[in-house]
Amino acid sequence: MYQLNLGFCIVLTLFVRPYECDTRFSNDAGRSFPASPKIAIVGAGVGGAAVAYFLKELGHNTGIIDLYEKSNAIGGRLHTVDLYGKSYETGGSIIHPRNQYAQNLVKKLNLRKKGREPSSGFALVKDQQVVFTTSSWNVLTLMRILWRYGLGFNHLMSVTNSLIDDFSRIYSVQQKRVSYENPYELLSAMSPSLANLTRSTFKRFLKELQLKEILIEELVQAITYVNYGQNAGIHSFAGSIAIAGADDGLWSIENGNKQLPRALVQASNARLLLNANVESVTDNQNGTYGLKVTSDQKLITRHYDLVVLANPLEVSQIEFFNFTRLPYNVKDRKYHRTVATIVAGVLRENFTMAAEKVESLFTCDSSEFYTSIGRIYPVDSPGTIKADATGEKQPDYPVYKIFSPAPLTEKQLEIIFLQVHLVKVFDWKAYPEYDRVPETFPSFVLDERNLLYLNSIEWAASAIEMSLISAKNIALLISQRIDGNEPSYLSRVEDGKLIQDGDINKIEL
Ligand SMILES: *[C@@H]1O[C@H](CO)[C@@H](O)[C@H](O)[C@H]1NC(C)=O
Ligand SMILES: *[C@@H]1O[C@H](CO)[C@@H](O)[C@H](O)[C@H]1NC(C)=O
Ligand SMILES: *[C@@H]1O[C@H](CO)[C@@H](O)[C@H](O)[C@H]1NC(C)=O
Ligand SMILES: *[C@@H]1O[C@H](CO)[C@@H](O)[C@H](O)[C@H]1NC(C)=O
Repeated sequence: MYQLNLGFCIVLTLFVRPYECDTRFSNDAGRSFPASPKIAIVGAGVGGAAVAYFLKELGHNTGIIDLYEKSNAIGGRLHTVDLYGKSYETGGSIIHPRNQYAQNLVKKLNLRKKGREPSSGFALVKDQQVVFTTSSWNVLTLMRILWRYGLGFNHLMSVTNSLIDDFSRIYSVQQKRVSYENPYELLSAMSPSLANLTRSTFKRFLKELQLKEILIEELVQAITYVNYGQNAGIHSFAGSIAIAGADDGLWSIENGNKQLPRALVQASNARLLLNANVESVTDNQNGTYGLKVTSDQKLITRHYDLVVLANPLEVSQIEFFNFTRLPYNVKDRKYHRTVATIVAGVLRENFTMAAEKVESLFTCDSSEFYTSIGRIYPVDSPGTIKADATGEKQPDYPVYKIFSPAPLTEKQLEIIFLQVHLVKVFDWKAYPEYDRVPETFPSFVLDERNLLYLNSIEWAASAIEMSLISAKNIALLISQRIDGNEPSYLSRVEDGKLIQDGDINKIEL
């Protein structure tokens, strides 16, 4: 659902503009940015947690960092639920092997990768008919793909992989402390064709690759549905990231992916405030921002030099006061609703595909009431079943996760399951609606000063690694303000046009 594929390691020497003492980050009142700023981060998901962590890693130990979280736990869309004493992922569940930040952070923070489950196949449903199934014999699966879809799928995977090679330049660029003010600018600096992907639909991109219509309609669309709940009308960057999510070697973190944001917060210097709902941000007109926060049913106001918004504004509905221009218009954009229903129970015969040992069912039909049905396994290593409150041991039913665009009715559950023992429902605003093509990105800097927005990256693609990359970018933008340096662009966007200040390909290796 939220994964991405990255890699590549080159050593770069970048053109960083000569140091100039400028007034760029000073405010209207002429107050320059303090050396130990008071910083607020709003949202303790993986992105917000990583901003706090990266700030410390960049050597900024001074000042106050308050991390506000409106719920009672760290994690955001990384979340687990307990059934019969075992925990299961309900949100972002997979990480790609080429995600360098996730890989490195898991090592640095002494977390562990979860042991891999036996790889399980899938079946594809179209017009209520199974049109394709993998086999437990890899060779047979390959033959079936060739037979039905031709060579196109392999071609698509290799095109996607080379796009991801381009994108992976971000790691060495960020290591050189280069930051960007807009996701489009960030993508363009990696490669112009990468940014271009956000300007046309995935459907068109696939047609230009001359893939067979049936491959697009069935396999590709099933993949975009299961990753982003949407068809191939999404822009091609999000589409390519979804395809990368069909790769081998996907992994997750032992005891749940939410262990990553937890460990990030713990290793940072941030002060965590749980159950603290940020209602509004006010421009104080003196270089600071006022945050109105409800906590313990009391409304308090706190003032900061810099504010990082690290949750989707479409979901949090934070209000803005006294800015000369509205920093963000939530009416322009929407997040996609995806409901995850976790069920312990027994599937009906025609949903099991027992003969092929298939554990997941995907559909490419938008008219179907579900997008996918898949067997899931606990986030921890296999253990004993805990007794419930009555002291009785609970039976160990298989557990399934169903994604759907709306909550399932009892009738719909009955279509899928012969027996239902336990149901837990998670109604997510999971990722953006990617039907805005061409995408015009929100900036990372909402007011041209010190109000920063982490989630603008999600309009390129929503994934754990994308949030980590955005967090690093935000930390670098803050770093620049503290050091008083001018931004070190390779390229930037002005009036919707891309201006190249430097060509990444001409950089000395
Ligand atoms: C199983 O049968 C039900 C009821 O006839 C039908 O609605 C459903 O689509 C079938 N499932 C599959 C995977 O074919
Ligand atoms: C951008 O996309 C358009 C339309 O698909 C294509 O014609 C053009 O060559 C692309 N430009 C780059 C730099 O990839
Ligand atoms: C800025 O304005 C706010 C709200 O009026 C006030 O509380 C704060 O002390 C002021 N800060 C500075 C540095 O002037
Ligand atoms: C906005 O500014 C006006 C005039 O300076 C002030 O009266 C008002 O309280 C401010 N609003 C907020 C929410 O602080």
